[in-house]
Amino acid sequence: MTKIKVLTIFGTRPEAIKMAPLVKEIEKNSDALESVVCVTAQHREILDQVLELFDIKSDFDLNIMKDNQNLWSLTSDVLLKTKEVIEQVKPDVVLVHGDTTTSMAAALSAFYAKVPVGHVEAGLRTFDKYYPFPEEINRVFTDSVCTYLFAPTDKSCENLIKSQIPQTHIYKTGNTVIDALLYTIKNHEVEIDGLNLNPDLKTILLTSHRRENFGEPIKQICEAVLELVSKNKNIEVVYPVHPNLNVQKPVYELLENKERIHLIKPLEYAQFCSLMKKSHIILTDSGGVQEEAPSLAKPVLVLRDTTERPEAIEYGTVKLVGTDKNKIVSTVQKLLDDTNEYNKMAEAVNPYGDGLASKRIVDVLKKIK
Ligand code: UD1
Ligand code: UDP
Repeated sequence: MTKIKVLTIFGTRPEAIKMAPLVKEIEKNSDALESVVCVTAQHREILDQVLELFDIKSDFDLNIMKDNQNLWSLTSDVLLKTKEVIEQVKPDVVLVHGDTTTSMAAALSAFYAKVPVGHVEAGLRTFDKYYPFPEEINRVFTDSVCTYLFAPTDKSCENLIKSQIPQTHIYKTGNTVIDALLYTIKNHEVEIDGLNLNPDLKTILLTSHRRENFGEPIKQICEAVLELVSKNKNIEVVYPVHPNLNVQKPVYELLENKERIHLIKPLEYAQFCSLMKKSHIILTDSGGVQEEAPSLAKPVLVLRDTTERPEAIEYGTVKLVGTDKNKIVSTVQKLLDDTNEYNKMAEAVNPYGDGLASKRIVDVLKKIK
């Protein structure tokens, strides 16, 4: 039997975390599938952390990351360099993930080469083209060129149907992020390097890196943290700061060397999972964290005005708070002061998956020829 050749292309930390369990599952099915992995390295250090943790060796590393890169050069680098890889590998199918420039440009590259593309985490939408920017349009575009749409939830399937994507191309699989989370929690219970948390204090975990939050919003978030820490002597804040300079600069200017605020380097995924588990409340604008934290029974306040992940909001574990300082302070304060309010949010729910998404995707891939 000739094997189906699957070329998986990804480049950033979240794509790597969510593609890792799928790559492992493809490798496990080596009787039917041949796995080829190409990393664009749109991210470098924070991508390599994930490759190391999941022991993934790339067959191609395009090494494209530049300091303070821009969308234009990033898009053209991914497009041109993946063209060469696709021409050399001649895959039966290309897999991309999510909403980054790597996903969108790699999908376009495969489409130009007339190779069918599978989109993992298809169908997420805010229906607002500038929020998140450029991710919403990356998703719309990627979905429209793909042949196999692996949608995590009912809602994402509905969004694809609304976008006139034929139902026969849509597969509801769950989100591979839950595969990654469950695997990591089970196999890697780790200490967090160089972070001395005080067990008598409540930990508030913060991450923020979105383009829409650059400038004033990120300042408002930092001001909110300063006010919360000064009002509540029983909390400490941990912020693994994203390497993007647009984040690093304001965050270090406003929050460095402040009492009970720990600014740390991005954590390796297993350590980050341990930190999520230890945290009392999570403040984030991350997509992946919004999906992971509900299954750990952690209240999540989303530092954005819109989200393409409404499911956990419906369950009550996640709330949209935006980036207004006063709104963030009052919402966190309520959760700190009101146990009923806290308990209502701290329910373990898992609308995003059951840990078997990669297996379902592989079952589809095995039947494509
Ligand atoms: C990218 C994605 C965003 C995703 C985020 C996840 C796009 C347009 N944006 O945003 O959707 O939510 O990744 O984290 O695809 N850098 C490093 N080392 C690293 C990674 C980044 O130094 O390992 C710095 C570099 O200076 C780089 C900059 O961060 O130029 C920005 O990286 P980029 O991938 O363009 O944007 P992100 O904000 O990371
Ligand atoms: N994450 C991590 N280390 C960190 C911060 C986040 O491993 O220091 C993980 C997190 O658990 C989630 C993913 O990175 O799985 C989210 O990545 P990010 O927030 O950069 O991107 P997004 O999900 O917003 O696209």
